[in-house]
Amino acid sequence: MKSRRIGKSELIVSEIGYGAWEIGGAGWESGSEDESVDIVRKAFDNGITFFDTAPVYGFGRSERIVGKALKKVRDRAFIATKVGLVWDDSGKVRKCLKKNSILTEIDESLRRLQTDYVDLYQIHWPDNETPAQETAEALQMVLQSKKARYIGVSNYSAEQMKELSSYVPLISLQPPYSMLDRRVEKDILPYVCEQGMSAIPYSPLAKGLLTGRINGDYKVGPGDARGLDKNFTDHDRFLRNIERIEKLKEIARELEISLSQLAIKWLLYRPEICSVIAGTTSEKHLKDNTRAAEWQLSDQTYEKVTRIVSDKELFE
Ligand SMILES: NC(=O)c1ccc[n+]([C@@H]2O[C@H](COP(=O)([O-])OP(=O)(O)OC[C@H]3O[C@@H](n4cnc5c(N)ncnc54)[C@H](OP(=O)(O)O)[C@@H]3O)[C@@H](O)[C@H]2O)c1
Repeated sequence: MKSRRIGKSELIVSEIGYGAWEIGGAGWESGSEDESVDIVRKAFDNGITFFDTAPVYGFGRSERIVGKALKKVRDRAFIATKVGLVWDDSGKVRKCLKKNSILTEIDESLRRLQTDYVDLYQIHWPDNETPAQETAEALQMVLQSKKARYIGVSNYSAEQMKELSSYVPLISLQPPYSMLDRRVEKDILPYVCEQGMSAIPYSPLAKGLLTGRINGDYKVGPGDARGLDKNFTDHDRFLRNIERIEKLKEIARELEISLSQLAIKWLLYRPEICSVIAGTTSEKHLKDNTRAAEWQLSDQTYEKVTRIVSDKELFE
């Protein structure tokens, strides 16, 4: 498994990472806690060293599973978690990046993860109610106490990154990015490159669309994590995605690889991408995704694929 450095940090992580939202359960069909622990261990055994989780994934469940699974190999695994989405007893989630909330959240994450530090601490979503300076002060305290090695952000615009990084150093951005969602290419990825940061694309398989397992009859059910994603909820766009996927599948067939591998490799073609964190609850899918590390995407194929996913709507 090849590795890449996150920004200018000392973190050198596997190109294929592991996204732990799915094992949190909420919004996804996941297995039992033991099965989920097993899949995270299998990810590590298959060469994955970078694991992305968050407190809100299953309200602590995902972090607990990641912590349990990686406890014995903690010194060889990189754990990224997040901060800034808190929930109440009724399960209502809200954004909060206030100083005291961050200082409480980090301790709760470390307890669930059974560790005394995380490698990367990422702001999950911006909170417009809290001044960036206050948030940065708390993050500096987290760094100084060595509870986190580095700070990153997720779902931030270039302007928001610029403001926050004037108070605290940022090494990475985790944006939504895939062949079916290219919005970040306009000014967010250029900013990331200019600053020497890295990007960690989330929903790299467009929540399963870029695996070929979803067909035109798919209906988003209640509680389905896809219910807030316009690649699914805008029905005309959804059907155009299915057409694009048929063309992409044809290329994958010619290359004798899976569509998921093509989607992962297409992201890794850009040097600013450090790791692709596809989420899975299945050993078969995990192995399929990991195999993307075994072959090279030629410039010619990259361009052929890119032409199929170049319509204006994928940038909006
Ligand atoms: N920062 C944020 O705001 C944010 C938002 C969303 C996600 N994320 C992170 O990004 C990670 C991944 O994104 P995502 O959860 O949106 O979804 P994704 O990785 O784009 O897609 C996951 C879906 O694809 C399926 N899948 C994965 N590999 C497959 C394969 N080889 N063949 C067939 N199906 C396959 C999974 O089902 P199976 O379980 O059956 O394999 C699951 O339904 C998350 O786990 C999380 O860590 C972050």
